Amino acid sequence: MGKTVDTKIIHDGSDPKKHFGSINDPIYKNSTLIFDNYKSFLRSKKKKFDVPYYGRISTYTTRRFEELISKIYDCKVGVVTSSGLSAITLTLLSLLKKNDEIILTENCYEPVYNFAENELKRFGINSKYFGSSQNETLQKLLTTKTKVIYIESPGSLNFEVEDLKKIVSIAKPRKILTVMDNTWSTFLGCNPLKYGIDIVIESATKYLSGHSDNFLGIIALNSDKYRRLIKQSAVRIGDFVSAESCFEASKGLKTLKIRMEKHQYNAKKIFNYLKSNKIVTDILYLPDISNKSNKLWKKFHKINNGLITFSIRNNGNVNVFVDSLKLFKIGFSWGGYESLILPLESLKPSRKMSKNKDYWFRIHIGLENYEDLIRDINNAMSKYAKQK
Ligand SMILES: Cc1ncc(COP(=O)(O)O)c(C=O)c1O
Repeated sequence: MGKTVDTKIIHDGSDPKKHFGSINDPIYKNSTLIFDNYKSFLRSKKKKFDVPYYGRISTYTTRRFEELISKIYDCKVGVVTSSGLSAITLTLLSLLKKNDEIILTENCYEPVYNFAENELKRFGINSKYFGSSQNETLQKLLTTKTKVIYIESPGSLNFEVEDLKKIVSIAKPRKILTVMDNTWSTFLGCNPLKYGIDIVIESATKYLSGHSDNFLGIIALNSDKYRRLIKQSAVRIGDFVSAESCFEASKGLKTLKIRMEKHQYNAKKIFNYLKSNKIVTDILYLPDISNKSNKLWKKFHKINNGLITFSIRNNGNVNVFVDSLKLFKIGFSWGGYESLILPLESLKPSRKMSKNKDYWFRIHIGLENYEDLIRDINNAMSKYAKQK
């Protein structure tokens, strides 16, 4: 019987029959794994990416979670890594070699830009950048050396959205691999593999785990060959995924759908409030029909999340606004249960654009009561507005 993904995340991922009826699988935590005999040792060695082998490479718990990834993305294979960033860097390292070129979206997560400009550069791999939806520019950047097109869509600061079909239609005939960071939408909102993207990455640190206490990266793909390359890079570099991290993420998965609904609900209320506030000069929010990426977002993504980026008039006292907030804490990351605010110097880290004129912030709307959140922002804005 076919199951929707909502049901898969509730019912898949554990084996009560194997574990004395335990509804959740226990955590298998080991460095050393012992083998029954010489033959089974050799068998496991040969299949070390598929069966528990040595704790850094695979345990029962990490393998179980990898199987779950392939179920939620409805694809052949899944890989877990120690963080969202390591999922990206390991994937790129495993696909690229000296003299290759990679083209990335300008709005990629800043550490990805830093990785491309430092590590990849050091290994003789050239990086180029294209603006969101600027597929003509993308085409002009292509050379015979281009091996990977890397996109983050929607971008996590400015929420610019890519046309996945167009990008695939540019890449496929040239045998260029496409890699997408899907953290913004999660597998619930978008399955890029269905549009022909080759490799999808999510930072499960964010919504998937959902409690701001876990690091995990997931990779979903349909190719055994590329899975093997990524796994080999992970093993050689020494990337390690703890069984506890997979356990935490499995728990997060169970409530992901309902949490996303509340994040979206709250975000809509906060957007409406911000829109009515005169100090606010600009708001980036994808369901807003005046947002330049609204149409593309609707075409490829089924859900919104809790992120809003906005600017306020600059009166020289930004600290008064930020420090007057009581519920929105200053902090990195997003996707947890709590509301956060992040002051932004630039909306496109990869471009190191000239500093913004107004003050820009990205807020993550948590699961609190939205009226309390609005009161909190309103109070901080009123104090800020009184400053000369
Ligand atoms: C869009 C995006 N991708 C990847 C990452 C990296 O994830 P992690 O913190 O799990 O390494 C982040 C982290 O903020 C992110 O915002």
